Amino acid sequence: MSTETVAVQLGHRSYDIQIGKGAVRNLDTGQRRTLIVSNTTVAPLYLDHALAQCAGAESIVLPDGEQYKTLHTAQSVLDHLADNGYHRDSVLVALGGGVIGDITGFAAALYHRGIDFIQVPTTLLAMVDSSVGGKTGVNHAAGKNLIGAFHQPIAVHADLDTLASLADREYRAGLAEVVKYGLLGNAEFLGWLENNAAALAARDADALAHTVAQCCRDKAAIVAADEREAGQRALLNLGHTFGHAIEAHQGYGAWLHGEAVAAGMMLAARMSARLGLLDNADLQRIAKLYEALGLPADPPPIPPARFAELMGRDKKVLAGQLRLVLLRKLGDAFITSDFDPEALDATLRDAA
Ligand code: NAD
Ligand code: GLY
Repeated sequence: MSTETVAVQLGHRSYDIQIGKGAVRNLDTGQRRTLIVSNTTVAPLYLDHALAQCAGAESIVLPDGEQYKTLHTAQSVLDHLADNGYHRDSVLVALGGGVIGDITGFAAALYHRGIDFIQVPTTLLAMVDSSVGGKTGVNHAAGKNLIGAFHQPIAVHADLDTLASLADREYRAGLAEVVKYGLLGNAEFLGWLENNAAALAARDADALAHTVAQCCRDKAAIVAADEREAGQRALLNLGHTFGHAIEAHQGYGAWLHGEAVAAGMMLAARMSARLGLLDNADLQRIAKLYEALGLPADPPPIPPARFAELMGRDKKVLAGQLRLVLLRKLGDAFITSDFDPEALDATLRDAA
Protein backbone atom coordinates (compact mmCIF):
# COMPACT_ATOMS: atom_id res chain seq x y z
CA MET A 1 0.00 0.00 0.00
CA SER A 2 1.43 3.37 -0.91
CA THR A 3 1.71 6.28 1.46
CA GLU A 4 -0.76 9.13 0.98
CA THR A 5 0.27 12.69 1.70
CA VAL A 6 -2.03 15.40 3.02
CA ALA A 7 -0.72 18.95 3.16
CA VAL A 8 -1.49 21.36 5.98
CA GLN A 9 -1.26 24.80 4.35
CA LEU A 10 -0.01 27.33 6.85
CA GLY A 11 2.37 29.54 4.87
CA HIS A 12 5.95 29.11 6.08
CA ARG A 13 4.70 26.72 8.77
CA SER A 14 3.10 24.33 6.26
CA TYR A 15 3.81 20.61 6.61
CA ASP A 16 2.88 17.23 5.23
CA ILE A 17 1.04 14.38 6.91
CA GLN A 18 2.17 11.02 5.52
CA ILE A 19 -0.36 8.25 5.99
CA GLY A 20 0.08 4.58 5.22
CA LYS A 21 1.43 1.24 6.26
CA GLY A 22 5.11 1.68 7.12
CA ALA A 23 4.93 5.50 7.04
CA VAL A 24 7.45 5.63 9.87
CA ARG A 25 10.03 4.31 7.40
CA ASN A 26 10.00 7.76 5.79
CA LEU A 27 10.91 9.45 9.06
CA ASP A 28 14.07 11.42 8.43
CA THR A 29 15.66 14.10 10.56
CA GLY A 30 18.76 14.40 8.38
CA GLN A 31 21.94 15.33 10.23
CA ARG A 32 20.04 17.11 12.99
CA ARG A 33 20.37 16.00 16.58
CA THR A 34 17.18 14.12 17.40
CA LEU A 35 15.43 13.12 20.63
CA ILE A 36 12.57 10.65 20.32
CA VAL A 37 10.01 10.94 23.13
CA SER A 38 7.87 7.89 23.83
CA ASN A 39 6.30 6.06 26.76
CA THR A 40 6.67 2.73 28.57
CA THR A 41 3.92 1.08 26.49
CA VAL A 42 4.81 2.32 23.01
CA ALA A 43 8.62 2.25 23.31
CA PRO A 44 8.95 -1.56 23.59
CA LEU A 45 6.78 -1.89 20.47
CA TYR A 46 8.10 0.78 18.09
CA LEU A 47 11.05 2.72 19.49
CA ASP A 48 13.77 0.55 17.91
CA HIS A 49 12.06 0.92 14.56
CA ALA A 50 11.93 4.72 14.90
CA LEU A 51 15.52 4.93 16.15
CA ALA A 52 16.65 2.96 13.11
CA GLN A 53 15.23 5.67 10.84
CA CYS A 54 17.08 8.56 12.49
CA ALA A 55 20.83 8.03 12.55
CA GLY A 56 22.30 8.83 15.98
CA ALA A 57 18.94 9.67 17.57
CA GLU A 58 18.53 9.34 21.32
CA SER A 59 15.36 8.66 23.26
CA ILE A 60 13.53 9.41 26.47
CA VAL A 61 10.77 7.13 27.74
CA LEU A 62 8.05 8.72 29.88
CA PRO A 63 5.53 6.99 32.14
CA ASP A 64 2.27 6.09 30.37
CA GLY A 65 -1.00 7.79 31.21
CA GLU A 66 -3.07 10.97 31.08
CA GLN A 67 -2.13 11.56 34.74
CA TYR A 68 1.45 12.15 33.59
CA LYS A 69 0.46 14.86 31.10
CA THR A 70 1.81 17.48 33.50
CA LEU A 71 4.27 20.35 33.71
CA HIS A 72 6.43 18.01 35.77
CA THR A 73 6.72 15.51 32.90
CA ALA A 74 7.28 18.26 30.34
CA GLN A 75 10.01 19.58 32.64
CA SER A 76 11.72 16.16 32.57
CA VAL A 77 11.91 16.40 28.76
CA LEU A 78 13.24 19.98 29.00
CA ASP A 79 15.80 18.88 31.61
CA HIS A 80 16.97 16.11 29.31
CA LEU A 81 17.37 18.56 26.43
CA ALA A 82 19.21 21.15 28.53
CA ASP A 83 21.39 18.72 30.48
CA ASN A 84 22.51 17.03 27.28
CA GLY A 85 23.24 20.21 25.33
CA TYR A 86 20.54 20.02 22.65
CA HIS A 87 20.53 23.07 20.39
CA ARG A 88 18.06 25.29 18.62
CA ASP A 89 18.31 23.19 15.49
CA SER A 90 17.67 19.89 17.32
CA VAL A 91 14.45 17.99 16.60
CA LEU A 92 12.00 16.23 18.90
CA VAL A 93 10.00 13.25 17.66
CA ALA A 94 6.75 12.35 19.47
CA LEU A 95 6.23 8.59 19.21
CA GLY A 96 2.93 7.70 20.86
CA GLY A 97 -0.68 8.71 21.32
CA GLY A 98 -2.14 12.12 22.02
CA VAL A 99 -0.60 12.35 25.47
CA ILE A 100 2.96 11.94 24.16
CA GLY A 101 2.19 14.23 21.21
CA ASP A 102 0.84 17.00 23.45
CA ILE A 103 3.74 16.82 25.96
CA THR A 104 6.43 16.62 23.27
CA GLY A 105 4.96 19.45 21.22
CA PHE A 106 4.73 21.58 24.36
CA ALA A 107 8.37 20.89 25.29
CA ALA A 108 9.35 21.71 21.69
CA ALA A 109 7.41 25.00 21.91
CA LEU A 110 9.30 26.01 25.06
CA TYR A 111 12.87 24.85 24.48
CA HIS A 112 14.99 27.70 23.08
CA ARG A 113 11.65 29.51 22.50
CA GLY A 114 10.63 26.86 20.01
CA ILE A 115 12.41 23.99 18.26
CA ASP A 116 11.12 21.71 15.52
CA PHE A 117 9.19 18.56 16.27
CA ILE A 118 7.68 15.69 14.31
CA GLN A 119 4.54 13.79 15.23
CA VAL A 120 4.52 10.00 14.88
CA PRO A 121 1.01 9.23 16.16
CA THR A 122 0.35 5.63 17.19
CA THR A 123 -3.31 5.79 18.26
CA LEU A 124 -6.26 6.32 15.95
CA LEU A 125 -7.26 9.41 17.93
CA ALA A 126 -3.80 10.91 17.54
CA MET A 127 -3.73 10.11 13.80
CA VAL A 128 -7.07 11.74 13.03
CA ASP A 129 -6.96 14.60 15.50
CA SER A 130 -4.29 15.45 18.05
CA SER A 131 -1.15 15.12 15.88
CA VAL A 132 -2.51 17.65 13.36
CA GLY A 133 -3.03 21.34 14.00
CA GLY A 134 -0.40 22.37 16.52
CA LYS A 135 -2.32 22.40 19.79
CA THR A 136 0.16 21.29 22.45
CA GLY A 137 0.02 21.34 26.21
CA VAL A 138 -0.36 19.68 29.57
CA ASN A 139 -3.02 19.39 32.24
CA HIS A 140 -3.28 21.32 35.51
CA ALA A 141 -5.09 20.26 38.69
CA ALA A 142 -7.67 22.93 37.80
CA GLY A 143 -8.42 21.47 34.38
CA LYS A 144 -7.37 19.53 31.28
CA ASN A 145 -5.07 21.21 28.75
CA LEU A 146 -5.07 24.45 30.76
CA ILE A 147 -1.39 25.09 30.03
CA GLY A 148 -0.30 25.00 26.43
CA ALA A 149 0.92 26.64 23.27
CA PHE A 150 0.17 26.59 19.58
CA HIS A 151 3.24 25.02 17.97
CA GLN A 152 2.92 23.25 14.63
CA PRO A 153 4.93 20.09 13.91
CA ILE A 154 7.19 20.13 10.84
CA ALA A 155 5.81 16.75 9.71
CA VAL A 156 3.39 14.00 10.74
CA HIS A 157 4.00 10.31 10.00
CA ALA A 158 0.88 8.22 10.65
CA ASP A 159 2.01 4.61 10.32
CA LEU A 160 -1.14 2.50 10.11
CA ASP A 161 0.86 -0.62 11.04
CA THR A 162 1.09 0.66 14.61
CA LEU A 163 -2.68 0.45 15.05
CA ALA A 164 -2.52 -3.36 15.10
CA SER A 165 -1.37 -3.34 18.74
CA LEU A 166 -3.90 -0.77 19.96
CA ALA A 167 -6.41 -2.02 22.56
CA ASP A 168 -9.99 -2.39 21.25
CA ARG A 169 -11.37 0.21 23.60
CA GLU A 170 -8.74 2.79 22.57
CA TYR A 171 -9.41 2.01 18.92
CA ARG A 172 -13.15 2.54 19.32
CA ALA A 173 -12.54 5.79 21.22
CA GLY A 174 -10.62 6.98 18.15
CA LEU A 175 -13.58 6.05 15.95
CA ALA A 176 -15.71 8.58 17.84
CA GLU A 177 -13.44 11.38 16.60
CA VAL A 178 -13.69 9.88 13.10
CA VAL A 179 -17.51 10.07 13.19
CA LYS A 180 -17.14 13.67 14.39
CA TYR A 181 -15.72 14.74 11.00
CA GLY A 182 -18.69 13.24 9.20
CA LEU A 183 -21.22 14.86 11.50
CA LEU A 184 -19.66 18.30 11.65
CA GLY A 185 -19.00 19.00 8.00
CA ASN A 186 -18.77 16.04 5.66
CA ALA A 187 -22.08 14.33 4.89
CA GLU A 188 -20.47 12.32 2.09
CA PHE A 189 -17.90 10.86 4.48
CA LEU A 190 -20.68 10.13 6.97
CA GLY A 191 -22.40 8.06 4.27
CA TRP A 192 -19.10 6.31 3.50
CA LEU A 193 -18.72 5.47 7.20
CA GLU A 194 -22.23 4.00 7.29
CA ASN A 195 -21.41 1.81 4.29
CA ASN A 196 -18.01 0.75 5.60
CA ALA A 197 -18.59 0.55 9.35
CA ALA A 198 -18.03 -3.21 9.54
CA ALA A 199 -14.69 -2.98 7.71
CA LEU A 200 -13.60 -0.09 9.88
CA ALA A 201 -14.63 -1.84 13.09
CA ALA A 202 -12.53 -4.82 11.92
CA ARG A 203 -9.52 -2.50 11.25
CA ASP A 204 -9.49 -3.31 7.55
CA ALA A 205 -6.33 -1.75 6.11
CA ASP A 206 -7.94 -0.03 3.12
CA ALA A 207 -10.84 1.31 5.19
CA LEU A 208 -8.38 2.68 7.74
CA ALA A 209 -6.17 4.30 5.13
CA HIS A 210 -9.19 6.03 3.57
CA THR A 211 -10.51 7.10 6.98
CA VAL A 212 -7.29 8.56 8.38
CA ALA A 213 -6.56 10.42 5.13
CA GLN A 214 -10.11 11.85 4.95
CA CYS A 215 -10.09 12.99 8.58
CA CYS A 216 -6.65 14.59 8.11
CA ARG A 217 -7.85 16.37 4.95
CA ASP A 218 -10.86 17.73 6.82
CA LYS A 219 -8.83 18.78 9.86
CA ALA A 220 -6.10 20.31 7.67
CA ALA A 221 -8.69 22.46 5.88
CA ILE A 222 -10.19 23.67 9.16
CA VAL A 223 -6.79 24.43 10.71
CA ALA A 224 -5.57 26.21 7.57
CA ALA A 225 -8.64 28.47 7.70
CA ASP A 226 -8.53 29.13 11.45
CA GLU A 227 -5.26 28.10 13.07
CA ARG A 228 -5.87 29.85 16.41
CA GLU A 229 -9.54 28.91 16.84
CA ALA A 230 -10.95 32.39 16.30
CA GLY A 231 -13.97 30.82 14.61
CA GLN A 232 -14.70 27.61 12.76
CA ARG A 233 -11.94 25.49 14.36
CA ALA A 234 -14.29 25.34 17.36
CA LEU A 235 -16.51 23.06 15.25
CA LEU A 236 -13.97 20.35 16.12
CA ASN A 237 -15.39 20.55 19.63
CA LEU A 238 -18.66 18.94 18.54
CA GLY A 239 -19.82 16.82 21.50
CA HIS A 240 -16.89 17.96 23.63
CA THR A 241 -18.68 20.33 26.04
CA PHE A 242 -21.13 17.53 26.89
CA GLY A 243 -18.27 15.01 26.80
CA HIS A 244 -15.97 16.94 29.14
CA ALA A 245 -18.81 17.09 31.67
CA ILE A 246 -19.19 13.30 31.43
CA GLU A 247 -15.44 12.78 31.91
CA ALA A 248 -15.33 15.17 34.87
CA HIS A 249 -18.37 13.59 36.53
CA GLN A 250 -17.16 10.02 36.11
CA GLY A 251 -13.57 10.84 37.10
CA TYR A 252 -10.96 11.09 34.34
CA GLY A 253 -10.13 7.71 32.86
CA ALA A 254 -13.41 5.99 33.81
CA TRP A 255 -14.82 7.02 30.44
CA LEU A 256 -12.22 7.44 27.71
CA HIS A 257 -12.30 10.84 26.03
CA GLY A 258 -13.59 9.37 22.76
CA GLU A 259 -16.37 7.47 24.54
CA ALA A 260 -17.50 10.66 26.29
CA VAL A 261 -17.32 12.57 22.98
CA ALA A 262 -19.50 9.89 21.31
CA ALA A 263 -22.20 10.24 23.97
CA GLY A 264 -21.71 14.03 23.87
CA MET A 265 -22.23 14.20 20.10
CA MET A 266 -25.43 12.21 20.51
CA LEU A 267 -26.64 14.71 23.13
CA ALA A 268 -25.79 17.59 20.76
CA ALA A 269 -27.81 15.79 18.08
CA ARG A 270 -30.77 15.23 20.43
CA MET A 271 -30.70 18.89 21.45
CA SER A 272 -30.57 19.87 17.77
CA ALA A 273 -33.65 17.67 17.22
CA ARG A 274 -35.45 19.46 20.08
CA LEU A 275 -34.69 22.72 18.33
CA GLY A 276 -36.35 21.35 15.19
CA LEU A 277 -33.09 21.04 13.22
CA LEU A 278 -32.82 17.23 13.04
CA ASP A 279 -35.56 14.62 12.89
CA ASN A 280 -35.91 11.15 14.39
CA ALA A 281 -34.58 9.48 11.26
CA ASP A 282 -31.35 11.51 11.68
CA LEU A 283 -31.00 10.40 15.29
CA GLN A 284 -31.57 6.79 14.28
CA ARG A 285 -28.90 7.03 11.60
CA ILE A 286 -26.36 8.15 14.19
CA ALA A 287 -27.48 5.45 16.64
CA LYS A 288 -27.13 2.75 13.97
CA LEU A 289 -23.63 3.91 13.05
CA TYR A 290 -22.63 3.97 16.73
CA GLU A 291 -23.91 0.43 17.16
CA ALA A 292 -21.88 -0.79 14.20
CA LEU A 293 -18.74 0.91 15.53
CA GLY A 294 -19.28 -0.07 19.19
CA LEU A 295 -19.71 3.50 20.44
CA PRO A 296 -21.86 4.50 23.45
CA ALA A 297 -24.95 6.50 22.48
CA ASP A 298 -26.04 7.30 26.03
CA PRO A 299 -24.16 9.09 28.79
CA PRO A 300 -23.98 7.57 32.27
CA PRO A 301 -26.82 8.80 34.51
CA ILE A 302 -25.88 12.28 35.75
CA PRO A 303 -28.28 14.59 37.63
CA PRO A 304 -29.20 17.32 35.10
CA ALA A 305 -28.25 20.23 37.40
CA ARG A 306 -24.82 18.70 37.97
CA PHE A 307 -24.41 18.04 34.23
CA ALA A 308 -25.26 21.67 33.43
CA GLU A 309 -22.92 22.94 36.14
CA LEU A 310 -20.03 20.86 34.76
CA MET A 311 -20.76 22.07 31.22
CA GLY A 312 -20.54 25.65 32.51
CA ARG A 313 -16.91 25.05 33.51
CA ASP A 314 -15.93 24.39 29.90
CA LYS A 315 -12.99 26.34 28.45
CA LYS A 316 -15.30 27.36 25.59
CA VAL A 317 -17.51 29.48 27.88
CA LEU A 318 -17.18 33.06 26.59
CA ALA A 319 -18.20 36.06 28.74
CA GLY A 320 -20.19 33.71 30.98
CA GLN A 321 -22.11 32.29 28.00
CA LEU A 322 -22.07 28.63 27.15
CA ARG A 323 -21.19 28.06 23.49
CA LEU A 324 -22.34 24.80 21.97
CA VAL A 325 -21.70 23.09 18.66
CA LEU A 326 -25.06 21.93 17.30
CA LEU A 327 -26.19 20.34 14.05
CA ARG A 328 -28.15 22.19 11.37
CA LYS A 329 -28.34 18.84 9.62
CA LEU A 330 -26.14 15.75 9.47
CA GLY A 331 -22.82 16.92 8.06
CA ASP A 332 -23.42 20.60 8.89
CA ALA A 333 -22.54 21.87 12.38
CA PHE A 334 -22.57 25.42 13.74
CA ILE A 335 -21.41 27.20 16.89
CA THR A 336 -23.93 29.12 18.96
CA SER A 337 -24.57 30.61 22.36
CA ASP A 338 -28.00 31.72 21.21
CA PHE A 339 -30.19 28.72 22.02
CA ASP A 340 -33.30 28.10 24.09
CA PRO A 341 -31.94 27.01 27.51
CA GLU A 342 -35.00 24.78 27.95
CA ALA A 343 -33.83 22.70 24.97
CA LEU A 344 -30.57 21.99 26.81
CA ASP A 345 -32.30 21.34 30.15
CA ALA A 346 -34.81 18.97 28.56
CA THR A 347 -32.02 17.11 26.72
CA LEU A 348 -30.13 16.62 29.99
CA ARG A 349 -33.30 15.63 31.88
CA ASP A 350 -34.13 13.03 29.23
CA ALA A 351 -30.65 11.56 29.43
CA ALA A 352 -30.56 11.29 33.22
P1 NAD B 1 -3.00 8.11 24.90
O1 NAD B 1 -1.90 8.89 24.32
O2 NAD B 1 -3.09 8.06 26.39
O3 NAD B 1 -2.95 6.63 24.33
C1 NAD B 1 -3.89 5.68 24.80
C2 NAD B 1 -3.19 4.40 25.30
O4 NAD B 1 -2.74 3.65 24.19
C3 NAD B 1 -1.96 4.69 26.16
O5 NAD B 1 -1.87 3.73 27.18
C4 NAD B 1 -0.83 4.51 25.15
O6 NAD B 1 0.42 4.19 25.76
C5 NAD B 1 -1.35 3.37 24.34
N1 NAD B 1 -0.82 3.27 22.99
C6 NAD B 1 -0.52 4.27 22.14
N2 NAD B 1 -0.21 3.78 20.93
C7 NAD B 1 -0.30 2.43 21.02
C8 NAD B 1 -0.12 1.37 20.09
N3 NAD B 1 0.17 1.62 18.81
N4 NAD B 1 -0.26 0.11 20.54
C9 NAD B 1 -0.60 -0.13 21.83
N5 NAD B 1 -0.82 0.82 22.75
C10 NAD B 1 -0.68 2.09 22.33
O7 NAD B 1 -4.43 8.63 24.39
P2 NAD B 1 -4.95 9.21 23.01
O8 NAD B 1 -6.38 8.85 22.95
O9 NAD B 1 -4.06 8.89 21.88
O10 NAD B 1 -4.82 10.80 23.23
C11 NAD B 1 -5.55 11.44 24.22
C12 NAD B 1 -4.86 12.76 24.53
O11 NAD B 1 -4.86 13.56 23.35
C13 NAD B 1 -5.54 13.57 25.62
O12 NAD B 1 -4.56 14.06 26.51
C14 NAD B 1 -6.18 14.72 24.86
O13 NAD B 1 -6.27 15.90 25.64
C15 NAD B 1 -5.22 14.88 23.72
N6 NAD B 1 -5.80 15.51 22.53
C16 NAD B 1 -5.13 16.54 21.98
C17 NAD B 1 -5.61 17.15 20.85
C18 NAD B 1 -4.84 18.24 20.19
O14 NAD B 1 -5.34 18.86 19.25
N7 NAD B 1 -3.62 18.49 20.62
C19 NAD B 1 -6.81 16.70 20.25
C20 NAD B 1 -7.47 15.63 20.83
C21 NAD B 1 -6.96 15.04 21.98
N1 GLY C 1 -9.00 18.80 18.80
C1 GLY C 1 -9.44 20.13 18.58
C2 GLY C 1 -8.52 20.97 17.75
O1 GLY C 1 -7.49 20.54 17.31
O2 GLY C 1 -8.82 22.09 17.53
